[in-house]
Parts: sequence; C-alpha cells; structure tokens
Amino acid sequence: MKTAIEVEGLTKSFGEIIAVNHINFEVKKDEIFGFLGPNGAGKTTTIRMLTGVLKPDEGKAIIMGHDILKEPLKAKQIISVVPEMANAYRDLTAWQNLMLMGELYGVPKEESRERAKFLLKEFGLYERRNQLARGFSKGMKQKLILCAALLTEPQVLFLDEPTAGLDVESARLIRDMIRQYNREGTTIFFSTHNMEEANRLCDRIAIINHGKIAAIDTPEKLRMKSTELKSVEVSFNKPVPIKELAEIPNVTNLKKIGDKIRLYTDEPHSVINSLTDYARRKKLTIISLNTLAPTLEDVFIKLVKEHRGD
Ligand SMILES: Nc1ncnc2c1ncn2[C@@H]1O[C@H](COP(=O)(O)OP(=O)(O)OP(=O)(O)O)[C@@H](O)[C@H]1O
Ligand SMILES: [Mg+2]
Repeated sequence: MKTAIEVEGLTKSFGEIIAVNHINFEVKKDEIFGFLGPNGAGKTTTIRMLTGVLKPDEGKAIIMGHDILKEPLKAKQIISVVPEMANAYRDLTAWQNLMLMGELYGVPKEESRERAKFLLKEFGLYERRNQLARGFSKGMKQKLILCAALLTEPQVLFLDEPTAGLDVESARLIRDMIRQYNREGTTIFFSTHNMEEANRLCDRIAIINHGKIAAIDTPEKLRMKSTELKSVEVSFNKPVPIKELAEIPNVTNLKKIGDKIRLYTDEPHSVINSLTDYARRKKLTIISLNTLAPTLEDVFIKLVKEHRGD
C-alpha cells in the first residue's frame, strides 16, 4: 500500500458556511504533507473529519486502508492527533498523562515508560515530569501533547498548527521531531499558515482557501508554476519616483520593499536592461540588482487571490 490518506469529495457545512467544500487529495505513505491556508480556510475542520471527531456531510476518507466512517476504531488505532486546542489532563502529572495515553492505546507498560522517558527528555520536560499539567505553560503543554501523540508510535500523525505560538527554539524542536518520526516511517499530515514552515518541512503542500484546494504540489513545483511571479529587485543611491519605474516595458507589477523596489516581470533580462538605461539617463548609481524566483509566499498570495476571484 502506497497511499496513507485518501480523501474524496469531503464536505462539511456549518449552517450557511461551507467550511470544507468537496476536497480531494491523496497523501502517500511516508510523506510529510502540509495543509497550508489562511485563517478560516477549513484546515481544522478537515483534520477533525479525518480523525473521526466530526462527521462529514459528504465524501469519504480512507486512512491506511480503513474507511474513517465505516471502520472508525481501526482507523483511530493507527493514528494520533495533536489538535488545535490541545488539552492534556490538567489534574494529572506529565508522566501520568503519558502513561494514560499508553494504556488507552494498549502500549505495553515497560515500553510506555521507555518511550515517555525518551520523549520527555527530547522535549526538555523530563525534570518536570511529576508536576501537574495545569501548571505547564502553553508551549510546555503543546510539547506534552506532542509527546502523548508520539508515544503511541502512530502510522499517521495529524498535527493542527503544531508550532503556533511557540518560540523559535521550541518550534524548531518540534519540526526536528516531526522529521525524525517521519524518517522512521510515520506519515505526517500537518496544517499551518506559515509558508516558511511548510516550505522547510513538506514533501508536498496543499493550499486550501475557503474550503477548496487551490493547488497541490511540491514546494519547488508550486514556485515554478508561477513563472509570471519572477521579479527583479533594484536599489539606487537616491530615491526614485516609483511611477517612472512602472512605465518600464514588461513590468506587470511593482512594489517598494524597504529601500529596494521589486518589479514583477516575465522578462527579467529586458527589465534589467531598461533599469541600467534608466540609471544612466538619470545619473543614478545602481546599488544592488537581483533577479528573484517567486517565493512560496508570492505563489500563496496569488493562488488565494485567484480563488477569491479578485
Ligand atoms: N463548530 C463550528 N460551528 C460553526 N462554524 C464553524 C465551526 N467550525 C468551523 N466553522 C467555520 O468553518 C470555517 C473553517 O474553519 P476552520 O476552523 O476549519 O478553519 P482553519 O483553516 O482551521 O482556520 P485557523 O487558521 O483560524 O485555525 C470558518 O468559517 C469557521 O467559522
Ligand atoms: Mg484551525
């Protein structure tokens, strides 16, 4: 079996709002698959349907060969979830939380202990293992939830914005652990609105907006798809009227970024020639000049805009 998650026509409405609108996608086994979208795009709703928390209105989802609606128990046994509003049992210690998780999933006691020790140490929580979760900070709670999710050694791990609100160091730790478990064979499905994170972590990314999938591809191919987002970035020794640069042939759009001006174009070479002519004519010196490939952020903004139809 090469497919870990298979989704067909999955749909969920809340009253008038179509939160997830007939989405289709496949996640391959051993992939890190990113679900990237702005607030309210439908990420959490999708994850809740895939993990059996929320019943879809339409469509189906199959996890490692198990239909989440027809065989919910089988599907749930092989997955773990780090939900958006993660909550550990507040009146249990960190250690007790993990032992309880092990029991629920039928992990042998000794194994649970070993895994808990390893995970708590990795996440820097081992010293605090005998304290109640209620006294943990937000980031510590988030790490504890991730420890609990990993303790069961799931075949598929769902993470809903696992690094949201965490400091740089903690976020990096979580990304490293995601990679490590993925190398050892866990398929990862995670949502984020952070482009850079998706870019660094994912084998493939689905971009979701208003409940629909706008694109699915590798980060690199998503970037290449938007060749019209190529740009030339220039800075001069003196401020220049941006209006004059807008008149350069083949420039489709431009914006000021700090002391630089970025000119979007399909023809970077022609734009560079025009810029050097312009500088000579105006007796300006070019301080820096670069051609840039589109960033994932450019692609994201473009796709999300296209989807909105503006
Ligand atoms: N239980 C609910 N009742 C009513 N509306 C809901 C419910 N859950 C989600 N929605 C609506 O569905 C849409 C998608 O919400 P969802 O939580 O899936 O977005 P998201 O992509 O996870 O956003 P965020 O990045 O803010 O977490 C939103 O318009 C939201 O208001
Ligand atoms: Mg969400």
